[in-house]
Amino acid sequence: MASASFVKLNASSSPWIGQRSFNQRPGSSSRSSAARVSVIRAGSYSEELVQTAKTIASPGRGILAIDESNATCGKRLASIGLDNTEANRQAYRQLLLTTPGLGQYISGSILFEETLFQSTTDGKKMVDCLREQNIVPGIKVDKGLVPLPGSNNESWCQGLDGLASRSAEYYNQGARFAKWRTVVSIPCGPSALAVKEAAWGLARYAAISQDNGLVPIVEPEILLDGDHSIDTTLEVAERVWSEVFYYLAENNVMFEGILLKPSMVTPGADHKEKADPETIAKYTLTMLKRRVPPAVPGIMFLSGGQSEMEATLNLHAMNQSPNPWHVSFSYARALQNSVLKAWQGRPENVEAAQKALLTRAKANSLAQLGKYSAEGESDDAKKGMFVKGYTY
Ligand code: 13P
Repeated sequence: MASASFVKLNASSSPWIGQRSFNQRPGSSSRSSAARVSVIRAGSYSEELVQTAKTIASPGRGILAIDESNATCGKRLASIGLDNTEANRQAYRQLLLTTPGLGQYISGSILFEETLFQSTTDGKKMVDCLREQNIVPGIKVDKGLVPLPGSNNESWCQGLDGLASRSAEYYNQGARFAKWRTVVSIPCGPSALAVKEAAWGLARYAAISQDNGLVPIVEPEILLDGDHSIDTTLEVAERVWSEVFYYLAENNVMFEGILLKPSMVTPGADHKEKADPETIAKYTLTMLKRRVPPAVPGIMFLSGGQSEMEATLNLHAMNQSPNPWHVSFSYARALQNSVLKAWQGRPENVEAAQKALLTRAKANSLAQLGKYSAEGESDDAKKGMFVKGYTY
């Protein structure tokens, strides 16, 4: 693949040529803006980016997110009494990625850097396990959250320094999409500063990813924490996504080559009333239709502490009528919880654990198609996983 940088496209290959650029003000026609519209970013990868995004957003499939940092993977392992060693992380990820038949329901998997460069105990690259099943390998590229000075106890996401060279390396290793998760807290405001910083960081990351052949997943997670109503979440989500799209456009990100990973619009975890899946679907789709252009190929929700069954039911409710985008899942907790319980770190339980993963993947695949039924779901699948102040 040719190196990606600023390239000139001819008029026939670009729908933007000859049009006003995103950041040109109406009515202005300076020579510098005319020069700007003939230059499009991410040119040499653009077709591949569109193709990758389409493959991930394919009917009846979604993303298996297993990109926990080593510290967070340690929390998963601790929940079944295992030490946080490289061998245990490898055994766990190997179990997940070698599940027979997984590719029928899963189109992409987000990995942590350790897994992207890791092999199974039999010496097969983890990325090859995925590719064999037509699952696109992805990579978490952000470097985590730190306090945002000058804000109301909020955070910002690090990782832009050196991102271009890291992304090129990840591409060479087989990754074709990327993830950057930043968070917005409703109880903390959110402050205008925190929202702007979150949106700008996501946009810079998205531009750099596309420049290096990786489809960026844009994830401003609006945390479940708080006792606010669903209307407050709607208002905040609209504010956040309008700012995200403003800066994505300003950074000349190609919308056909991105995927979104939003939180569903729900009441805060401590709100007195819970919302049913139909209400959550109505609010979430209202927000997305107001803010997300139809050029975006896929919306891949996070589960954010919902129970496995809730996350599946909500997705099912959102797919009861056609949407402008593929509406699917990119769950971590809501796909892994029953797997861990079935596995318990024992080799003799690997098959049962893989079966548990397939059960959840299939349920979410059906929900993506709007055909899921919760009949026969286990008690474990109904257990919420929300943890106050959860960090990844
Ligand atoms: P959850 O589904 O656990 O909220 O995962 C979110 C995430 O960003 C993982 O990639």
